[in-house]
Amino acid sequence: MVILEVKNVSYGYSHGTPFEIAALRDVSFSVEKGELVGIIGHTGSGKSTLIKMLNSLLKPESGQVLLNGKDINTDKASIKEARSKVGLCFQYPEYQLFEETCAKDIAFGPKNMGLSEDEVRQRVLRAAEFVGFNKELLNRSPFDLSGGQKRRCAIAGVMAMFPEILVLDEPVAGLDPAGRRELMSMIENYRKATGATVMIVSHSMDDIARIADRILVMNKGSLAESGTVKEIFSKTDKLIEMGLSVPAATSLINKLRLKLPELDADVYTTEDAARILAAFYKRRKEQ
Ligand SMILES: Nc1ncnc2c1ncn2[C@@H]1O[C@H](COP(=O)(O)OP(=O)(O)OP(=O)(O)O)[C@@H](O)[C@H]1O
Ligand SMILES: [Mg+2]
Repeated sequence: MVILEVKNVSYGYSHGTPFEIAALRDVSFSVEKGELVGIIGHTGSGKSTLIKMLNSLLKPESGQVLLNGKDINTDKASIKEARSKVGLCFQYPEYQLFEETCAKDIAFGPKNMGLSEDEVRQRVLRAAEFVGFNKELLNRSPFDLSGGQKRRCAIAGVMAMFPEILVLDEPVAGLDPAGRRELMSMIENYRKATGATVMIVSHSMDDIARIADRILVMNKGSLAESGTVKEIFSKTDKLIEMGLSVPAATSLINKLRLKLPELDADVYTTEDAARILAAFYKRRKEQ
């Protein structure tokens, strides 16, 4: 079932100045309920602009954004509905933490939705659990947390709204490898537990290859490609042309295949690579 439809959306910045730029050009795609969509693209390709369209933070200059079949920009009520159903988490969301305690910060979104105190409290506890926050952390000031903890606190604030679509702009940017892995698996757990649709903008081809059901590739404001991990990352040359790359595991196997053409080419994650190389050596031993 389609939950979100972006139809011929265009948007530009700085009209009437020498800096005028077409940030989105006739972008169209749809998202199925429960899907995990990865959005990749070179810097400046329009990824952040695109996701700001999804809850009417920016309005298309032409085209439409339909949520459950309804244009989100119809009137005030439809915009309000989109804001509660599409949870947007910006890049470096920790800069927006401001409350005395993490619990209060996480409660900010659900409180604004007009929910009862009891419901807000329950949502805060549930969201905190998704990001591994215990009571002690919840009662701390967000300013006394590590960088990774601040990030998780901010993301929990969006999760606590339990949006139908959770949209995250570069959620793991700037975290160390362990922090990245941890946060990505927290997002996956949230999705599994809630059945929410998730959209993630990322510069990491490795992260996207590991978790996405489908990938949208933005290039200079246009949607250049849309497809499965295999469909997108088998087009190495096209990605490189757009200033992108393939996952490290894909690149490794592509290089090995120059010498060992019998290796399977369908490799997008470290786990895939390990499996294929182990099978290869097993076959060799048996020969
Ligand atoms: N507020 C703004 N005013 C003017 N131009 C802007 C504004 N925000 C973005 N742009 C321009 O619009 C284009 C698309 O920007 P956007 O931030 O959507 O790209 P992005 O794909 O998210 O890039 P990044 O990977 O660096 O985050 C870029 O050329 C950018 O310079
Ligand atoms: Mg961006």
